[in-house]
Amino acid sequence: MIDKQSNLYKQLQERDQLHVLKFWDELSAIEQDELTRQLESIDFSLLDEFVNMLQQSNEMSQEIEACEVHKRCECNHHQEVGEAMIRKGELGVLTVAGGDGTRLGWSGPKGTYPATPLSGKSLFQLIAEQIVYAQERYGVTIPWYIMTSVSNSELTKSFLLDNNCFGLDRADIFVFEQKQVPTLDEHGNLILNTKSSFVTNPDGHGGIISGLQQSGALAEMEGRGIQYLSYVQVDNPLARVVDPIFLAMHAMDDDSSNEVSSKCVPKTNSEERVGVFCKKDGRVSIQEYSDLTDEQASETTEGELTFGAGSIAIHMFSRAFLDQIASSLPWHKARKKVAALEGECNAIKFETFVFDVLPMAADSLVVQVKREDEFAPIKNANGDDSPATSQALQASRSRRWLIEAGIDIEDGAEVELSPLSGASPREINVSEIPNPIKSGQQHVV
Ligand code: UD1
Repeated sequence: MIDKQSNLYKQLQERDQLHVLKFWDELSAIEQDELTRQLESIDFSLLDEFVNMLQQSNEMSQEIEACEVHKRCECNHHQEVGEAMIRKGELGVLTVAGGDGTRLGWSGPKGTYPATPLSGKSLFQLIAEQIVYAQERYGVTIPWYIMTSVSNSELTKSFLLDNNCFGLDRADIFVFEQKQVPTLDEHGNLILNTKSSFVTNPDGHGGIISGLQQSGALAEMEGRGIQYLSYVQVDNPLARVVDPIFLAMHAMDDDSSNEVSSKCVPKTNSEERVGVFCKKDGRVSIQEYSDLTDEQASETTEGELTFGAGSIAIHMFSRAFLDQIASSLPWHKARKKVAALEGECNAIKFETFVFDVLPMAADSLVVQVKREDEFAPIKNANGDDSPATSQALQASRSRRWLIEAGIDIEDGAEVELSPLSGASPREINVSEIPNPIKSGQQHVV
């Protein structure tokens, strides 16, 4: 048995959590070691915070106001300024890929999911190829920082290596792991899922703040001269990973503090499950869809949804801003069913959200972009935000961009535009693409 005089035993005893040792005598020495190690990793003051949160009723709905939204500016000046910053090597890419992807029902890391309509490129490949393209175009290295979690970190690394990092140099990819935190039952107890382990969950994508700081990634970026980080979730195949105009808007905006900027699209309807931009206590913030009351969700001003600026979870961060964030992010509770030793159990997951850093900036910029150009997430196996809806949107963007670039596409032809062929219609090199694209054929160009 764990020594009853040990600090660990006392910590568990004080909190009424000794049930996790219930099967101790049945465990092999290795299993006892595993359980001890997992118990030693508990941050007990955090556990106390979680248990206190369970005893508090749900947060009162907070006063929120609409916030200002700027249109993405399509001018050459911004394009040139942003391109110059990229050429100087000031941009890095940051991807959060630590989520479990349970809603999609994909057993591997979500980034390995075959996402595109014709060639079945994975979500990771789509991001990697955009970086490859930009590196060639701007003659610069753009490092890629990927946050994974304990359950998918090794699989992510081997997937990238097995695919030769899709053309990127391995030395320019920095994979770091987010923390795990205990998942609790409704009474605040740790939940055994085997006789020698208890249930934990990744600490939410807000885990990037401590993850970047503690893994040394922020220091590594500073060494490379990176000033800005383009942040995307792994689940949106249309996310523009290297966007000079957004970068320039972020860096040059006189009214914001140039610490963090975000992209939004108008919500399709009041019930769409996206966070919304708003002001809380005078600061630009995102209210998560699950925290928006029905009245707030459907409130209108001059015929438009008052809180209609939906977050597509794309941000531009200044590195110095991420470096300075000292206060910890608030925890959010989510009810989930989890598999436990004694059968399925109602559990509470605690997570932090990266967008809770927005109000830490003195003022931040919200940029409205075209949904059809930048947002086609893959979240669910069926229905809204599924592979089928995303692929239809990807196919339609490929077609639109090619036509805009001057390619004729005959009726019935299916096309998929590769990220290696350009990051916008004006960049597509039409001389390398068949014209017209003939009907009845599938083309990956
Ligand atoms: C998220 C946003 C929502 C936004 C929408 C746009 C949150 C809480 N909400 O919703 O405001 O409108 O995307 O698509 O994020 N992840 C980690 N580690 C974790 C948890 C998640 O890396 O511990 C990553 C996932 O791999 C994924 C992303 O974060 O890339 C989004 O997570 P998910 O839980 O799917 O968020 P949504 O509910 O879809």
